[in-house]
Amino acid sequence: MSKNLSELSGRGGIVDNLFEKMGNAAEKSGTVSQEELDRLAKEFLVGKANTYGTVTAYDFMKPENKGKKAYICNGSACLCAGTQDKVMDSLSEHYKREEIGHMTCLGRCHENSAFHIGGVNYSGDASQKMSEIVSTQGALQPKDAYNVGSNKELLTEAFTDVDAYYSIIHDVLKRSPEEVLGEIKDSNIRGRGGAGFPMGVKWDFCRKAESDTKFIICNADEGDPGAYSDRYLLEERPHSVLFGMMVGGFCMGAQWGILYIRAEYPESVDIVNAAIQELRDRNLLGDNILGTGFNFDFKVIKAQGAYICGEETALINSIEGQRPEVRTRPPFPAIQGLFNKPTIVNNVETLAAVHWILDNGGSAYAALGTDKSTGTKLVCLDSFFNKPGMYEVEMGTSLRTVIDDFGGGFKEPVKAMHIGGPLGGMVPVSKIDDLAIDFESFSTNGFLLGHASVVCIPEKIEIIKYLEHLMEFAAYESCGKCFPCRLGTTRGQEMFAKAINDENYKIDRDLLNDLLDTLQEGSLCAHGGGIPLPVKNALHYFEDELSQYLA
Ligand SMILES: Cc1cc2nc3c(=O)[nH]c(=O)nc-3n(C[C@H](O)[C@H](O)[C@H](O)COP(=O)(O)O)c2cc1C
Ligand code: SF4
Repeated sequence: MSKNLSELSGRGGIVDNLFEKMGNAAEKSGTVSQEELDRLAKEFLVGKANTYGTVTAYDFMKPENKGKKAYICNGSACLCAGTQDKVMDSLSEHYKREEIGHMTCLGRCHENSAFHIGGVNYSGDASQKMSEIVSTQGALQPKDAYNVGSNKELLTEAFTDVDAYYSIIHDVLKRSPEEVLGEIKDSNIRGRGGAGFPMGVKWDFCRKAESDTKFIICNADEGDPGAYSDRYLLEERPHSVLFGMMVGGFCMGAQWGILYIRAEYPESVDIVNAAIQELRDRNLLGDNILGTGFNFDFKVIKAQGAYICGEETALINSIEGQRPEVRTRPPFPAIQGLFNKPTIVNNVETLAAVHWILDNGGSAYAALGTDKSTGTKLVCLDSFFNKPGMYEVEMGTSLRTVIDDFGGGFKEPVKAMHIGGPLGGMVPVSKIDDLAIDFESFSTNGFLLGHASVVCIPEKIEIIKYLEHLMEFAAYESCGKCFPCRLGTTRGQEMFAKAINDENYKIDRDLLNDLLDTLQEGSLCAHGGGIPLPVKNALHYFEDELSQYLA
């Protein structure tokens, strides 16, 4: 990462944004022409190599994306469900193979068969109407239905209306930022994006950082296959996310709230923009909001297809129009983030909890859940459940309750669940009764709660094939900054692929262990550092099945 490039990219502030301009330029043909890249390099004074380097890092801007007309989901849940060959056959009747790209993942894990045409996502039985979808290009807009339930409604509480929802902002803005922040600290809420860092502590770091410009960013790059809870919030409860960002801005003195929303969720982008307009119409944005002296506005940045942009420093580089490479820390973003200014990055679900906390008090929130994992958690169940859907449960709820009472049990034999995204643990069904939905329960049992998405691995899928898929995903999405991950994930994928395809080849167990330890210990971020967890779980719990591939 270059501090100078950050400065140059930030000269026009967030309004005149290099990355957004690149994305817009790629909209028509699928990539950005060399002339436009040169022009942008000149406009932002960043050099041609930088603009070219950036676009090549994104699925929806790189030169190979040129001419793509349809995309098929290749995420873990669609893979396990085995639906995508049929979707590909159906797409192939209308498009040449080179016109079909991949998206990972569309967040339609509850019904699979997911694909994307003309800016619209489809899933379930939509591929049966392929001719109509292709000929109307975006006119057919199906609503995807998934179950929503809860044993404690905070985030899934019914939404009344905008005026009623924002009525408490008047009181909030009359209090001091320290006092409001005190409620967040009292709630003990921990970040839902994966790392579980206390929100109040992070906001306090940024509040104390001295700067005339600060940013709060909503990380809406939910890339974990199996997860669609952030999508639920963005599309069904956008105001809870916006409200949380406004309060964050007030507490730490940030003037801008930026929502970085993944391109794979086009509906989310539109719905959030419409919600922002509702606030603008009510004079709840801009300068001197409600006469309190608080200045705040929103900007939506549409991502362009790179899983690593979910990592907060890669995300910041992305908004700056730099390659989405992870930054070394310190300095942490709360001190030196976007355009070198103090920046908070929070997950969608973390931000969405702020309204309830301020409405009911931080200690009321802290009283929910367990001592160290307070509040509720959204959990996503894929199509292997009888009642797939998105469920809000109080932290500490047993995994058995989630699976049987909410999910209605498995609809076909399942041997393991991959919980918490690609970097999460592989939980064998024999461990279900040992686990509860909270950070500690998962970590003490050798797993990771992460974003709490559940992808089932059915009996019929060989674990080694799933491991190869995981390593392939990790290698493809590696930002390439550090060699343990850049090289290690590819070597891992090669090992699994060779073992599957060559019956005379056996994986050297010591070599594999060395590789996993090197990834875990030597990687700069939790991408390379996290991918060994599910592999180690698999080696531990599925040793009998895997032994035929190991020497
Ligand atoms: C490879 C990788 C992918 C990540 N993807 C996401 C993501 O999609 N959404 C998210 O909120 N956090 C993601 N994170 C975590 C972020 O870096 C960061 O910790 C989080 O956005 C902070 O928000 P929180 O404190 O509210 O959890 C990812 C981290 C890594 C290492
Ligand atoms: S671990 Fe992988 S994704 Fe993370 S910094 Fe290193 S190369 Fe990049």
